[in-house]
Amino acid sequence: MTVPRLMMTGVGPDFSRIAFGFWRLLEWDLRGQDLLNLIEALLDRGITTLDHADLYGGYACEAVFGEALALNPGLRSRMEIVTKCGIKYPTPARPTYQQKAYDTSRDHILASVEQSLQNFRTDYLDLLLIHRPDPLMDADEVAAVFNSLYDAGKVRYFGVSNFTPSQFALLQSRLDVPLVTNQIEFSVLHPEPMFDGTLDQLQQRRVAPQAWSPYAGGRIFNGQDAQAQRVRDALAALSAKYNDAAPDHLALAWLLAHPTRVQPVLGTGKLARVDSALKALDITLERDDWFALLEASQGAPVP
Ligand SMILES: NC(=O)c1ccc[n+]([C@@H]2O[C@H](COP(=O)([O-])OP(=O)(O)OC[C@H]3O[C@@H](n4cnc5c(N)ncnc54)[C@H](OP(=O)(O)O)[C@@H]3O)[C@@H](O)[C@H]2O)c1
Repeated sequence: MTVPRLMMTGVGPDFSRIAFGFWRLLEWDLRGQDLLNLIEALLDRGITTLDHADLYGGYACEAVFGEALALNPGLRSRMEIVTKCGIKYPTPARPTYQQKAYDTSRDHILASVEQSLQNFRTDYLDLLLIHRPDPLMDADEVAAVFNSLYDAGKVRYFGVSNFTPSQFALLQSRLDVPLVTNQIEFSVLHPEPMFDGTLDQLQQRRVAPQAWSPYAGGRIFNGQDAQAQRVRDALAALSAKYNDAAPDHLALAWLLAHPTRVQPVLGTGKLARVDSALKALDITLERDDWFALLEASQGAPVP
């Protein structure tokens, strides 16, 4: 199965319909050639959009990825590297960060991008996201630094993560180019972006969202809370109708059905689970079944 492509906006970028995230990379204990094998396997399946952040793994994951990529630098042109900046998280790797804080100042964004380029051993990022909304964000300052990074050829596209619609609109109002995504938490266990204006805004602007934790961080499979159990029961009830589809197929198909053209960011470290998830691409949920899953998530009939 080759994953189809997805234009994030009318002017690009051209990403894969399903992305893969490296937040949990250090948990997988994959380094060097073993990690490169995973990366190559993803690319061979057409999963080319690879999601990172400066702070993943205590600011270590980008460099672990870069070390693996250095074993076969030719792979760089086959992938889109997404990374994020703007969170200062106190950790031994960053002794100057004493207080958890957000920082979208020019100096911080520039320094973060330089560090990410060095970590990945590349000279450009495909997409840079502001990781979380910064209450002290000066939209003019961010727009200016985005322009200078673009002009220098260091970053090709820009976006945001976890922004409210008004925060997104504020930053967009100062930019000449479209923000190409808002990476948000969205899953059948976290349907809120459909009801708080987040997805309305993205659909209005024809911008594809990226969905982080598409399986609610695994809670869909093993959560003991009532919501997770209800959704599991509802997924099981639909299985036979969809060719004995497993819960991961149906939960992802539920996300893919949204008209904003959601790009789920998978977080498993197991290739077999990636392959399983891809079966969702062949499933078109009937509308009634989509609503049955929403109802199970919300624990109440659709009003
Ligand atoms: N922008 C943000 O603020 C933000 C926040 C969080 C995450 N992210 C991005 O989103 C990516 C995905 O997030 P996530 O890791 O929470 O995604 P997720 O896919 O919802 O959760 C991954 C977890 O679920 C487990 N899992 C996956 N498939 C499974 C299956 N079929 N059966 C049982 N367990 C399964 C995985 O365990 P195994 O590894 O054992 O399979 C892993 O522990 C991250 O890597 C990161 O790139 C962004």
